[in-house]
Amino acid sequence: MNPETITADAAGTWTLGDLSVRRMGFGAMRLTSRADGGPSDRDRAIAVLRAAVELGVNHIDTAAFYFSSLRSANELVNSALAPYPEDLVIASKVWPGRDTAGTWWWASPEQLRGQVEENLRQLGRDHLDLVNLRLPRSAVTESVADHFGALAELRDAGLVRHLGLSNAGSRHLAEARAIAPVVCVQNPYGVGAPAKETAFMRACGEQGVAFVPFFAIAGAGREAGAPAAEAEEVLAVARAHGASPAQVRLAWTLQLGPHLLAIPGTGDPAHLAENVAAAALRLTDEEMARLASPGWTG
Ligand SMILES: NC(=O)c1ccc[n+]([C@@H]2O[C@H](COP(=O)([O-])OP(=O)(O)OC[C@H]3O[C@@H](n4cnc5c(N)ncnc54)[C@H](OP(=O)(O)O)[C@@H]3O)[C@@H](O)[C@H]2O)c1
Repeated sequence: MNPETITADAAGTWTLGDLSVRRMGFGAMRLTSRADGGPSDRDRAIAVLRAAVELGVNHIDTAAFYFSSLRSANELVNSALAPYPEDLVIASKVWPGRDTAGTWWWASPEQLRGQVEENLRQLGRDHLDLVNLRLPRSAVTESVADHFGALAELRDAGLVRHLGLSNAGSRHLAEARAIAPVVCVQNPYGVGAPAKETAFMRACGEQGVAFVPFFAIAGAGREAGAPAAEAEEVLAVARAHGASPAQVRLAWTLQLGPHLLAIPGTGDPAHLAENVAAAALRLTDEEMARLASPGWTG
């Protein structure tokens, strides 16, 4: 596949509320640090963001809590892209916070406004296009009503255009939708995902809710990134298409349904072009089924 000529358009579009986005987006989490944990090169991170937009990406996922010792994802987005293109949709996340030393904390419903305003200041905007309520893992069986209700009030006040959920399950989605419209669910998901997660991914589509997988490339490596040894099933499909394993993983998610939106994260300009080019990769039904088999996540 030739990354030079393929743009995000090749994946088509989806509408988040009233905002049209290309289904091939970008995640900003990897912009702030190098693989060895040190702060990223600022010029390189800015170049990656500008290249993403030049390649047609108009859906960027970020968060105020994406920062390293010297870099803030929101500051990089602002510096690279403001004044923002009119069609750019910036999604952020609240509920987790990190203090100046990087220590995590969790906001009360009343503290969500401060987190939204922190994002507004850093991004240099008067409203956020999309805010995901990012649940703590411990909230699997807990109600999100108080927190989501507080975000719905910020939406009514005009600080936020649209709301989503992250790290959520079907009960959270039902609870939130009874309070205010939910335009997306952002969850970890990728090849070999358990059947339960696939059922939820499909249920989102049936309700008109976008499903935005993260760790689609990293898989079981999660925050640490893609494992050094790629699964043989992915390698075989990649060889058949002259594509990279990362491209196969991204294409697989996009092909699951029109409501799937990709947000691959990278701080590497070559990886960015490669990932965007996956927008044009089409897998066969047999390849789709082979990569769907639950039980392996390598
Ligand atoms: N809601 C949440 O709780 C949550 C959690 C995690 C992430 N997110 C969001 O989702 C986005 C995607 O998740 P992610 O960035 O963690 O994981 P990802 O997109 O699955 O994978 C990123 C990892 O894969 C590497 N990579 C990217 N493109 C590659 C390529 N073409 N070839 C080889 N390696 C490649 C990156 O390293 P290089 O930089 O070297 O390319 C990085 O280590 C994040 O950026 C963030 O915006 C949300």
